[in-house]
Amino acid sequence: MSGTSRFIRACRGEIHDAIPVWFMRQAGRYQPGYRRLREQYSFLEMAHSESVITEVTSRPVEELGVDAAILFSDIMIPLGPMGIDFTIEEHKGPVIARPIRTAKDLAPLRPLSAEEDLPEIFRSIERICARIDPVPLIGFTGAPFTLASYLVEGGASKYYEHTKKMMWEQPDLWRELMDRLAHTVVEHLGAQIRHGARAVQIFDSWVGALGVEDYERCVLPTMQWIFDQLRMFDVPTIYFGTGTPALLPSMKHTGASVLGIDWRIPLATVRKQLGYEVALQGNLDPMALLASWPVTSSLATHILDMMAGDARYIFNLGHGVPPGANTQHLKQLVDLVHAYPYPGS
Ligand code: CP3
Repeated sequence: MSGTSRFIRACRGEIHDAIPVWFMRQAGRYQPGYRRLREQYSFLEMAHSESVITEVTSRPVEELGVDAAILFSDIMIPLGPMGIDFTIEEHKGPVIARPIRTAKDLAPLRPLSAEEDLPEIFRSIERICARIDPVPLIGFTGAPFTLASYLVEGGASKYYEHTKKMMWEQPDLWRELMDRLAHTVVEHLGAQIRHGARAVQIFDSWVGALGVEDYERCVLPTMQWIFDQLRMFDVPTIYFGTGTPALLPSMKHTGASVLGIDWRIPLATVRKQLGYEVALQGNLDPMALLASWPVTSSLATHILDMMAGDARYIFNLGHGVPPGANTQHLKQLVDLVHAYPYPGS
């Protein structure tokens, strides 16, 4: 069965039987089972425990009937073994002990050796793939810009002032930082694929903070290098960001096989702008999950109507599932997408 996943087929533009659907952050605080585990362990303890990773990653496939699992981990995890000291705080996200602002801050960072540094993750991936087969597992990393934004700012940021300052004032240091993070991304994704991940997504969640010219000069070459390196693994590659409507034509030039689109732009507009060679994934406003079902279903149906008959389309949210979402609502949404008339069915 493993060649016939409708998610993988849609990424490749091959004929499939129904519109595929999965959700970013489909494992998380909206699930009572997840919240129970979180009462016993910190997030980072969970993200390094083979049995927790396996359970939390597999559950949404079993509970919701989604067409793909995404590894339960975090974009920060591969930075630990590189020598970055950080915590993840509730409602705040990553907090970095010593932000990187100078060449001296960057020098001590070690390159990642994925399988040696994070063996529990790759053992989990093997267990997850055996458990959820024939449903595919999506591996992921953060993108260099988004990772750099945490490393340079020291945590979440509104204006990215230190990141942009480094980009403009210390272009050599910026390039060195992007380069090291790009190697981490390829090393970590390559290992995830070798252990069973059948697609990979790169989260550039905050890249929408950049103007088009800065994106093209300071980020695009790194992303092109990454997607070039990943081509040899022959799995679909998804590139996701938020606030990106102006960047999408440049993001297409990365060579990713799928672009993840947030809720700010209608998918029909994106399709018209980018053509049919790239698959599109998205883009229901996550807050629609907190509305009453008639509202959620009509907003979702509007998106499905727009993408009707599009062979390179995967339903998802425009960003992660919010903690206040309810499981029943998500399950109804999966059923709605699967029941939508599809030409291949
Ligand atoms: O999508 C999934 O189901 C897979 C799991 C996943 C997590 N983080 C689990 C997580 C993925 C893909 C990520 C990626 C991630 N982490 C991103 C990129 C995607 C995005 O959301 O834009 C970013 C920016 C981070 C950094 C980060 N880690 C943030 C902003 C937070 C949330 C802080 C909060 O309390 O709201 C985290 C922690 C985190 N990562 C949680 C989960 C389930 C919550 C941890 C908890 O239980 O307290």
